[in-house]
Amino acid sequence: MWTSPRQLALLGLAVAGQVHAKPVKGISELECLAVDLVVLALDACTTATAFCSNYLSIPTITKTATVTTSLTTTQITSSTTGTNIITESTVTQTQTATATVTTCILSQAEEDSSSDSYKKRNVGPRPCRPATRKAIPTALSKFSQDEISTACSCLGIPTPTVTVTATATATKPTTSIINIAATSDVTATSVITITTTTTDIVCPTPSQCNNQGLQFALYPNNQGDSSDATYSIFDPTVYKTETPEFSGITSTAGGFDYSYVQEITVYGTSYEFESDYFVLDHRGYIFAAENGSYTITFTNVDDIVLLWLGANAYAGWTRANANAGIYFGEGGDGSASVDMVEGEYMPIRIMYAQAQGAAVFQVSITAPDGTVFLSSSTENSPYLVQYSCDLVSAPQFPAWGSET
Ligand SMILES: *[C@@H]1O[C@H](CO)[C@@H](O)[C@H](O)[C@H]1NC(C)=O
Repeated sequence: MWTSPRQLALLGLAVAGQVHAKPVKGISELECLAVDLVVLALDACTTATAFCSNYLSIPTITKTATVTTSLTTTQITSSTTGTNIITESTVTQTQTATATVTTCILSQAEEDSSSDSYKKRNVGPRPCRPATRKAIPTALSKFSQDEISTACSCLGIPTPTVTVTATATATKPTTSIINIAATSDVTATSVITITTTTTDIVCPTPSQCNNQGLQFALYPNNQGDSSDATYSIFDPTVYKTETPEFSGITSTAGGFDYSYVQEITVYGTSYEFESDYFVLDHRGYIFAAENGSYTITFTNVDDIVLLWLGANAYAGWTRANANAGIYFGEGGDGSASVDMVEGEYMPIRIMYAQAQGAAVFQVSITAPDGTVFLSSSTENSPYLVQYSCDLVSAPQFPAWGSET
């Protein structure tokens, strides 16, 4: 048996004249007015809430919501070489959050119901059909079940409580350092520079300043005949202060062999003189183009050759300190060697003396490598000079006649 809302409203107004109820969703205020008496009765009943809740069989609706959260993971790339281009990727993580909602949603319960009878009632105070009902409190026994149900709803019993337990578990993006071996197509052009070290051994040459050749001086020999093997009376020092009869510069030395006395010239000059009783003094410096032994060789000397090398050749020479004495009476052949260091200037003096008779003088100077840079036919050589250009390494000799 069903009492219309209007009837209830009239009843309510007649009995109480007050409206206590607050309608919940889906229940019109008018309907609540109609059950106000019931509401009043419930209001006074301490067990009304529990009753209504049970009476209305408020269901528990579990709603599961799926939450999708986008998390951005940045890849941090560590590399030691090369250039890695990493495209930042977006990682989508799907999280499932479970929300438990406990409430009585009238309209939804109505829609969700499979009962046709509920569907027909789009509005109304009876959304939830209890399966089993508790005993109606005595105070409400005089009301119909529908009226009680409406009244419960009007009371807002149960107060819709929403308990949401949302557990969101998000996985913290892992900060991972990814070591990526750089894989790249590299077209490498290798330029291999081959350094070839070529050692050219260039013999040092002295700077040149029109200083090549030997200086020579012609003197008359007033020391008499050569009457022993070494022409022992010959004194070379007398020419230090004697003005020469003739002097010049020559790139050759020796080269003459006169078996009898005659008018001769020497070293390409035009000065003529008798081929007996003369002295030819030669002086200068050997420039060492290389390390080693430099050899001065004399052959067929007639009458005498005295050789000085080093300081004595420059000044202070005597017959006694000659480095070599080559005498006709001892065969006329001989040589002397001197070790020199490359770049070194070595003073040299060669004094040839002819007395009576035949005049023969052959000389050559040979470098360590066999090069002959002084003979009767040599050209100007940078290794045979009158002085060094700096005039220090190999100073000028004193003027002829002013030697010491
Ligand atoms: C020449 O000798 C000097 C002195 O002994 C030495 O220092 C130099 O290296 C030598 N030069 C060569 C080319 O051997």
